[in-house]
Amino acid sequence: MAQSDVSQLAGRKVIVTGGAGFIGSHLCEALVKASAEVICLDDLSAGKRSNVAHLDGCPNFRLVEASVCDEGARMDTLFVGTDTVFHNAASKKNICLVDPHRDLEVNAGGALNLLKLAMKHGVRKFVQASTGSVYGEPQLFPTTETHPFDPVSYYGVSKLAGERYVDVFHKLYGLDTTILRYFHVYGPRQESNEFGGVVSIFLRRITEGQNPIVFGHGEQVRSFTWVGDLVDANLRAATNPQATGQAYNAASGIRVTINELARGMLDILDNEGRLRVEHGDPLIGDIMEFDVSNEKIREQLGVEFEGDFWGTLKTALGDVNGFLGAGAGAATMS
Ligand SMILES: NC(=O)c1ccc[n+]([C@@H]2O[C@H](COP(=O)([O-])OP(=O)(O)OC[C@H]3O[C@@H](n4cnc5c(N)ncnc54)[C@H](O)[C@@H]3O)[C@@H](O)[C@H]2O)c1
Repeated sequence: MAQSDVSQLAGRKVIVTGGAGFIGSHLCEALVKASAEVICLDDLSAGKRSNVAHLDGCPNFRLVEASVCDEGARMDTLFVGTDTVFHNAASKKNICLVDPHRDLEVNAGGALNLLKLAMKHGVRKFVQASTGSVYGEPQLFPTTETHPFDPVSYYGVSKLAGERYVDVFHKLYGLDTTILRYFHVYGPRQESNEFGGVVSIFLRRITEGQNPIVFGHGEQVRSFTWVGDLVDANLRAATNPQATGQAYNAASGIRVTINELARGMLDILDNEGRLRVEHGDPLIGDIMEFDVSNEKIREQLGVEFEGDFWGTLKTALGDVNGFLGAGAGAATMS
């Protein structure tokens, strides 16, 4: 895979919000490796110290426990001299179903707060983690970045508001921004509780000897994307001038149904064939069909996505503890 010109970030101060979470921790790892001065800003509401514990001894890494909604002198001090903000902190989809006010505050209000701080302190680049949920149930396939927005979840609404604030700061004030819309990311350290990702949840259940539970009929199509590819997309977005003011689908483009995932994971992990796929009630706002175009990010930024989903998954599942966050399973580029 062609590497991003990450050397540009060496010695520069970068803030990774949500850096103690699943994706953020992999991004922190890559940035530390690239010799950036990394501030991992996380309120630890969902993220864990253990996700970045392996970076603790690094002189160019610091975990700061704070909220993206915080204002005042402490945040000002943190932002002084910052080159790039990678905004990954979010209140996630399942949490939003329980507490929609919190996701408005964090996903919309938090983005606005960080953008104001970025402007005030002359931040060079702002990379926003968004989501395919901003499209709602897609009507046009393959779904490109120009697809109409029609979110069908509180999460999608709040993340879209975050995106729109980013766009306004670019258009009104010329802030150099890039929006990356993630889809169905998987890899080590993804939460395996009810707020986690389907791959980790199935992995935990299967390794505990329980059947994987598929919500609804299971024919929902997902575009599973390897976390290391998202890290690469972030680094390229931060260092390629072509990304200025752009939004990109950051998705592998592969199509796997939840039934296929459950059956495939049983094939890999349940050697004795004792378990079976169970079905539960459908989830509210669950999107049925994803067929995502990643042409723009591949052509403009040169991101190459893992196309061998089963091979990548099988290799990653070889380290169950690392995958479930009990170790520091790595997914970033060598
Ligand atoms: N995982 C996916 O499949 C996926 C898909 C689409 C979009 N995304 C987006 O990617 C980003 C990262 O998601 P993730 O899967 O790593 O989730 P995650 O829950 O593992 O990480 C989010 C992190 O944000 C932190 N956080 C939450 N509220 C905060 C606040 N107010 N201040 C500071 N930190 C706060 C949490 O503690 C956590 O560490 C999010 O913006 C999410 O919307 C993820």
